[in-house]
Amino acid sequence: MLTITFIGHSAFALDSDGKQVLVDPFISGNPASTHKPEDFSPATILITHAHNDHVGDTVDIARRSAATAITVVELADYLEMQGVEVIATNHGGTASFNGGTVKFVPAWHSSSYTTMDGNLAPGVPAGLIVRFGGKTIYFAGDTALFSDMKLIGEEGIDIAILPIGDLFTMGPDDAVRAVTFVDPEIVIPCHYNTFPALAQDGPAFKQRVDSETGATTILLDPGQTYSAT
Ligand code: NI
Ligand code: MN
Repeated sequence: MLTITFIGHSAFALDSDGKQVLVDPFISGNPASTHKPEDFSPATILITHAHNDHVGDTVDIARRSAATAITVVELADYLEMQGVEVIATNHGGTASFNGGTVKFVPAWHSSSYTTMDGNLAPGVPAGLIVRFGGKTIYFAGDTALFSDMKLIGEEGIDIAILPIGDLFTMGPDDAVRAVTFVDPEIVIPCHYNTFPALAQDGPAFKQRVDSETGATTILLDPGQTYSAT
C-alpha cells in the first residue's frame, strides 16, 4: 500500500509500510502548503534540482529526522556541507534507500541555489523514477517536454507526476503529449497554481488527459492524499 500526499507545488510525501519519503520538500516558504515541515519525519528525501522551490526545507528536516538526502552530486556536496547525510547521484544512476530505489534521469531545465552569500549553481536538473510501495512513480521534476520521455515510459511507469504550470516548465499542452510518451496509468499534475504566474485549469487538464490518452488524472489539492491500489 502506497499513499501519495501532495504538499503543494512539487512537494510530495510517499508513505508505505511505515516508511516515509519526501520529494522536493518546499514547505515553509510554499504559499500553497497546508503542512509544516515538522509534520514530516522521513527516512529519505529526494531532490530533483537545486532551485529553492525544490530544495525547500531539506536541511532542517534532514537534520531533525536524520534523513538521507539523495540528489545530484554537486547539490549533494553542498547539502553535506550543511550537515546533511547524503547519497550523491547523477543521470542514469540508481540509488537504494530504506524501502525502495530511485533512478535519476534527465530533465530539460536549469539549476541554481540562492543563499545569503549569493547564487550557487550546484549540478544539473533531474527527473526521478522511484520504485517504492510496489509502484513505479516518475517525478518529471521541472522540465520541458522531450521525446526521450519515451525511454522513461519503457521502464513501466504506474504513476507520472508532471509539471503543468508553464512559464518555467511544460504547460498543459506539452504535458498531455508527455503522458503519451510516458504512458502511465495515473497522472498527477503539479507545479501549478502555487503562485499567480503558474495559474492553470486543473479540471481542464484532467479532461484532456482522460479523453486523449489511456491514463486517468488524479487532481490533488495541497494537503490531499491519494492511495495507490
Ligand atoms: Ni526549477
Ligand atoms: Mn520549480
